[in-house]
Amino acid sequence: MSAHVVALLVLVAVAGSDGILNLLNLPILNPLLDLLLPLQLSSNDPEIFMSTPEIIERWGYPVQTVQTNTTDGYILTMHRIPYGKASPTNATNAMRPVVFFQHGLLCSSSDWIINLPNQSAGFMFADAGFDVWLGNMRGNTYSKAHTTLNTSSHQFWEFTWDDMMRHDLDAMIDKVLAMTGQSALYYVGHSQGTLTMFTKLSIDQLFANKIKKFFALAPVVKLKNIKGLLRAVGDINPLLSLYYNNFGQDEFLPSSAFLDLAAQYGCGLEANLNPICKLVMFSIGGPDTRQFNSSRVPVIISQTPAGTSSTNFIHLGQMVTSGKHEGYNWGSDAKNIQHYNSTLIPIYNISTVNVPTYLFTGDKDWLANPTDVQYIRSNLSSEIVMLDQRLLGYNHYDFTWGLKAADDIYKPIIKIIDDDQ
Ligand SMILES: *[C@@H]1O[C@H](CO)[C@@H](O)[C@H](O)[C@H]1NC(C)=O
Ligand SMILES: *[C@@H]1O[C@H](CO)[C@@H](O)[C@H](O)[C@H]1NC(C)=O
Ligand SMILES: *[C@@H]1O[C@H](CO)[C@@H](O)[C@H](O)[C@H]1NC(C)=O
Ligand SMILES: *[C@@H]1O[C@H](CO)[C@@H](O)[C@H](O)[C@H]1NC(C)=O
Ligand SMILES: *[C@@H]1O[C@H](CO)[C@@H](O)[C@H](O)[C@H]1NC(C)=O
Ligand SMILES: *[C@@H]1O[C@H](CO)[C@@H](O)[C@H](O)[C@H]1NC(C)=O
Ligand SMILES: *[C@@H]1O[C@H](CO)[C@@H](O)[C@H](O)[C@H]1NC(C)=O
Ligand SMILES: *[C@@H]1O[C@H](CO)[C@@H](O)[C@H](O)[C@H]1NC(C)=O
Repeated sequence: MSAHVVALLVLVAVAGSDGILNLLNLPILNPLLDLLLPLQLSSNDPEIFMSTPEIIERWGYPVQTVQTNTTDGYILTMHRIPYGKASPTNATNAMRPVVFFQHGLLCSSSDWIINLPNQSAGFMFADAGFDVWLGNMRGNTYSKAHTTLNTSSHQFWEFTWDDMMRHDLDAMIDKVLAMTGQSALYYVGHSQGTLTMFTKLSIDQLFANKIKKFFALAPVVKLKNIKGLLRAVGDINPLLSLYYNNFGQDEFLPSSAFLDLAAQYGCGLEANLNPICKLVMFSIGGPDTRQFNSSRVPVIISQTPAGTSSTNFIHLGQMVTSGKHEGYNWGSDAKNIQHYNSTLIPIYNISTVNVPTYLFTGDKDWLANPTDVQYIRSNLSSEIVMLDQRLLGYNHYDFTWGLKAADDIYKPIIKIIDDDQ
């Protein structure tokens, strides 16, 4: 089923829609010619098919896997790098400041450890003396379990980012605070990891006490102006719904199905990377900005996409169409009550967020589009926006996978947290 969905997306990308016409006008196709030249990949990279903890261990860092249950029964897995190589003492319980990293849509904890140690946030923060925790939202590779529901049941997949915001953030952050004996932590979110946090902070002031500072990378709240492939998904949302109703609506882009499909399209882990593969990728996040380590593609593809629910995707499509920061319409009073304790679909307002916030945005980012980012900037209370860092030439992926992120983003955040001690 999921392979069908990917196939559909690829078809839409090729066959066209307004969104795709936008795409064709943008520099995305300029690199097409050189994409057609076969890229040489180091297919024997030992990290291909390693899990996040295995990659962490491979670089000689300590790692812990910690599970936590949400109030609605999902069993989530977090990965922890309790200390780095440069730590003067190596005790896991040494009360280092906690930095919690939350991945974006279709991604996982692997985002933060995917490049070399001095280019990846997870390792750099551990080496800088922090206790590093990497979250995994429900439904991805590492958080596909439930106390009562079978993952092959329809009910397991009945969630969107709104449910992650209501349940997963509490479950993970409360667990981290309990295990570290601290009362608050620093939060670094990417993309959907900022959408969930902005929304949570806007509706729950008690939760805000647990977040010392919020670093928002490629922040997303409204999706009205997104470009690229996901614009097309928004535009064809009715078509997608029709598709789901006929072909199933549970899991979306799990790693295994993607790999099958990727193999079919030649995005496999063999020596040559098919241009279609890279084209699809950059048609989602923005043009190739040349700060991507092409030889890491096989490792990234073995981890990403990490899966979510189809409904999460439809929810995002609904937000593209409506232009609103809102909950998903579950289509019946009973289900809306189950998710929102109300028959009304919540409309959120970030003007009540009251945690010091640091924005890192990119001008080549098609998902956290500069126009939608402007909404965030101007609707957050000006007292809490501590930094508004606009990074030139950044697409949506560069914040986690880009080679310049270490200098442009991670080192400045480390300095800000150090100064806060
Ligand atoms: C989560 O729930 C499962 C199944 O009910 C249980 O075995 C496990 O101990 C719980 N985990 C935590 C961390 O509470
Ligand atoms: C601390 O642990 C790191 C990583 O395991 C290791 O490289 C380092 O030598 C250890 N330092 C001390 C002081 O034990
Ligand atoms: C990472 O380390 C290599 C070699 O040790 C060095 O050349 C490079 O500049 C470092 N990168 C960063 C971002 O510090
Ligand atoms: C989950 O459902 C599948 C298919 O219906 C079944 O094969 C499997 O045994 C079930 N697993 C559990 C733990 O019940
Ligand atoms: C890209 O990743 C490979 C390992 O897959 C590494 O050997 C190489 O140094 C990296 N390139 C850069 C520019 O960091
Ligand atoms: C649900 O809403 C009712 C009133 O609308 C309120 O009394 C109750 O506390 C809410 N329950 C939860 C779990 O938020
Ligand atoms: C959010 O609340 C502020 C302050 O009450 C108001 O000025 C603004 O219009 C609201 N925004 C939305 C999108 O409702
Ligand atoms: C919220 O953002 C919109 C779009 O950028 C802007 O028109 C509006 O004035 C902002 N609202 C507030 C309360 O600043």
